[in-house]
Amino acid sequence: MTKKYRIISADEAAAYINNGDMVGFSGFTPAGCPKDVPAAIAKRAETLHAAGKTFKIGMYTGASSGDSLDGTLARAKAILFRTPYQSNKDLRTAINSGDAPYFDMHLSSLAQELRYGFMPKPKFAIIEAADLTDDGEIVLTASCGITPTIAELADHVIVELNRYHPKELRGIHDIYQPLDPPYRKEIPIYTPSDRIGHPVVKVDPEKILCVVETNNPDEVGGFTPLDEVTKKIGVNVANFLANELKSGRIPAGFLPIQSGVGNIANAVMLSLGENPAIPPFEMYTEVIQDAVIDLMRKGNVKFASGCSLTVSREVLESIYADFDFFKDKIILRPQEISNNPELIRRMGLITINTALEADIFGNVNSTHVLGQKMMNGVGGSGDFTRNAYISIFTAPSTAKGGAISAFVPMASHIDHSEHSVKIMISEHGIADLRGKSPIRRAEEIINNCVAPEYRNDLRTFMKFLGDKAHTPQYLQASFAMHVRFEKTGSMKGVDWNQFN
Ligand code: COA
Repeated sequence: MTKKYRIISADEAAAYINNGDMVGFSGFTPAGCPKDVPAAIAKRAETLHAAGKTFKIGMYTGASSGDSLDGTLARAKAILFRTPYQSNKDLRTAINSGDAPYFDMHLSSLAQELRYGFMPKPKFAIIEAADLTDDGEIVLTASCGITPTIAELADHVIVELNRYHPKELRGIHDIYQPLDPPYRKEIPIYTPSDRIGHPVVKVDPEKILCVVETNNPDEVGGFTPLDEVTKKIGVNVANFLANELKSGRIPAGFLPIQSGVGNIANAVMLSLGENPAIPPFEMYTEVIQDAVIDLMRKGNVKFASGCSLTVSREVLESIYADFDFFKDKIILRPQEISNNPELIRRMGLITINTALEADIFGNVNSTHVLGQKMMNGVGGSGDFTRNAYISIFTAPSTAKGGAISAFVPMASHIDHSEHSVKIMISEHGIADLRGKSPIRRAEEIINNCVAPEYRNDLRTFMKFLGDKAHTPQYLQASFAMHVRFEKTGSMKGVDWNQFN
């Protein structure tokens, strides 16, 4: 980059953003998000609020983001609208109190829905870059998110040029936007390592309003050490997949894996690496976490295609230090490609995601605590689950020290219906729901996944169900465990006799 662009401070860049503006941000998870400009916008909001003025912005992100983005803007009460996924504590509070209007949507859909005009187009795109050329080529950092689309749609682009990330990242991204209907064609990816796009996001240099130079690591949190429950879930997933391979239901060369976010996903990946019956495999996933990098070094993971490198700081620095080893083993793609239903179905992905709650018939709630409070959002779990070769949900059988059973008579919110969910796995075992009627599915889940202390509750509930319906329910009692929790702080001790 020469002196073509105006280099200014984050505060000066934030001064361009006005009340009511829609702003698109680069990044996916904390990886690749701008940091200094969003924090400066939050500061501007606080100053204007103190002067009695209104200042709120609409926010399009790739998914969750770092605290400098979601956290600072939520705390500054500067959010007019926010979509899609989030996982920040303060933003969650703002969403559940009504301070931050939030629209939860499938991550694969956001870019195209912005292009379709389903939501207002962003006026600004704020993009973290590892490099920027005079002719408007932006080398992204540790993720792709919705960046190609917001760069195209926005009137103005603000670049945070982050020197923490090496320019050598050029080449790790595969930037591709499909045409919109009625002109869309097949997306020509047939294996996770296929490249179809450009290494950079290209924008008209005239649209680049300014550049803010920074040097900041990503704000990715670490993983908590594995406990017995997460370890057992990981082992159960690996054993299930080993058995599917042995039985020939998964082809001998294995199929690409998608693995969700968080500690359980990390534990599952480690267990896959430790199971000698699982051959080296490829990943076609959304988030590449620490365990994947570890397995790549050990040779268990041959290739990883994802939307972001959401790894801890030490792991990211170790990748950059050994970039020659990793650069032809990782591709980062925009989320409409990493999570694309056409590609998930074509490549036959084995998808592994985590449920907050599931009912005995196999409906899964990934988002709403006790049916009401937003936890994070549906993220990519719907993109992958609905289109998977085999969709697996994992869940610890209880939450809050045993006061909540993850398995209930009727899910209090449904993100993934019984039609999409094939396998349920807890620390106690595996429920195979494929090809089974609702009652058989309920027996599978109760016998194999439910915590021993809740099995009698669910078996007692089953006794109320008649045989005059395909999916019998006993509506008076369907939420008895939830109601018991609301009244006493525990789902234990439901008096089922009251329903006789
Ligand atoms: N009812 C109420 N609360 C529950 C619960 C239930 N049935 N199950 C879990 N919780 C609580 C936990 O106690 C915990 O609360 P705390 O933070 O106060 O301790 C919280 O919910 C999260 O549980 P945890 O076990 O830490 O979750 P996790 O990190 O494994 O994440 C999801 C689980 C479901 C929240 C997370 O996977 C998610 O957001 N999924 C949706 C998006 C997705 O699947 N993305 C991947 C696609 S690529």
